[in-house]
Amino acid sequence: MHPTSSQAAPDRVVIFDTTLRDGEQSPGASMNLDQKLQVARALADLGVDVIEAGFAAASPGDLEAIRGVSRQVEGPIIASLSRCSRGDIAASWEALRDAPRRRCHVFLATSPIHRDFKLKMAKDEIVRRAVEGVKLAREKFEDVEFSAEDSARTELDFLVEVVERAIEAGATTVNIPDTVGYALPSTYAETIRHLRRHVRGIEKAVISVHCHNDLGLAVANSLAGVLEGARQVECTINGIGERAGNASLEEVVMACRTRADVLGIATGVRTDRLYPTSRLVSQVTGLHVQRNKAIVGQNAFAHEAGIHQHGMLTNRETYEIMRPEEVGFARSSLVLGKHSGRHALKERLVALGYQLEDGAIDRVFADFKALADKKKDIYDADIEALLVHGQILGKGLVAWTLDALSTTSGTGTLPVASVALRTAAGERLQEVAAGDGPVDAAFKAIEQATGIRVKLRDYQVVSISTGEDAQGEVSLEVEHPTGVYRGRALSTDIVEGSARAFLDVVNRIALRAAPVESEARAEMGTP
Ligand code: KIV
Ligand code: ZN
Repeated sequence: MHPTSSQAAPDRVVIFDTTLRDGEQSPGASMNLDQKLQVARALADLGVDVIEAGFAAASPGDLEAIRGVSRQVEGPIIASLSRCSRGDIAASWEALRDAPRRRCHVFLATSPIHRDFKLKMAKDEIVRRAVEGVKLAREKFEDVEFSAEDSARTELDFLVEVVERAIEAGATTVNIPDTVGYALPSTYAETIRHLRRHVRGIEKAVISVHCHNDLGLAVANSLAGVLEGARQVECTINGIGERAGNASLEEVVMACRTRADVLGIATGVRTDRLYPTSRLVSQVTGLHVQRNKAIVGQNAFAHEAGIHQHGMLTNRETYEIMRPEEVGFARSSLVLGKHSGRHALKERLVALGYQLEDGAIDRVFADFKALADKKKDIYDADIEALLVHGQILGKGLVAWTLDALSTTSGTGTLPVASVALRTAAGERLQEVAAGDGPVDAAFKAIEQATGIRVKLRDYQVVSISTGEDAQGEVSLEVEHPTGVYRGRALSTDIVEGSARAFLDVVNRIALRAAPVESEARAEMGTP
């Protein structure tokens, strides 16, 4: 596992995607099983080497999702995170036993602050537990990764000891996380270099980098590690993850491709799937990609200044270091209309990264036809919205549905909303409330009807696609004693869309899908 010079054939770096595990830890980004399966299929299609599908011991939902991915998604190695404990490793085994290619990823924190305050363990205890964890995992798994959590703030000599002992115990990959995004490229490079020089047996394992983005350096630090010989990069689509996120997969991959002259590294990623995969993840998590985000942002290939446009017309390379087609960036997304058939829709879905069963395609096709009656041009964004807001990816069980909504408002009148909800058992609940405006009044009426009260943190309405008949997507984020939740809805009527988005959030709270997991993670001290 040695780096090559820029002249030699490029070394292959393993792309370890953790969108479904670390990425899902972004506040409010939790995904349901169908959504995870869709993302995992898209990742396999993208050509990542490893998919970390979750943390099996964190919740029954996580275990089921890992099991589902490992049974249904072919190609990549499927990994499950575990603490260094028999119970966690057993849960990972339960989740992965049917996987054709599987990995157990055990972790334990090594830095002084984690040792003293979180784990309350001395150094020798940490070494003992790390060795025990790796050995336990090796009883079931041939492929075992060990992560020394908060490596970047761990004393180098102690890190050498832990990593060496983990390899002796059978770890096949050793991961060096910068858990809190504290490192600089120079310090992180120094850590990897030091490990390569001082850990006995280091050549028996793949060195992996896992960088968080608190200082905006996750990708730079990951590449610094690669230049020092790391041969696995852990990253997420769109860089989503805890706090400021993880290293962004698309940036790492395109840096390797565009600057192969310096890095001498290749990945197995089909780069023309990057943009569709980014859109898919953004849709299912509700985490919008900033317009100026490298590689996959809407402006990533836009040239505004006249002088740039002129240069581009003469020779694209004057201002373009990558071609949009290389990353699958669609310049025009006008796709279908009223007369388009099922086959055309299916093809477009596949191009967008959605691989659906025939029954699901039939349902999307029915929704598509209904939309095409109301809307002349159907864009990619409309199709994505149909999936996310329809029954395919979006909604599972719901506690309440919206039966009726009416509002009155105007200058000099008190805005009032009347809302009727239907419970899963069929009961009709009606409430009337006043508010600062019709949207606020509708939220209050829903709170009264459901008894769930929240604090609104963010509220946005965006027009998806273009044209006068464009639909508006309402997304909101709320705070509840059990956690932070996001909800979304689509409508041509903003007030109705807002009420539906609010109900979406309230349903999520009622069904407690997300916070149970995040609470469990917090209790367990998951990174
Ligand atoms: O950030 C971190 O330390 C992690 C490890 C579990 C790999 O996510
Ligand atoms: Zn992490």
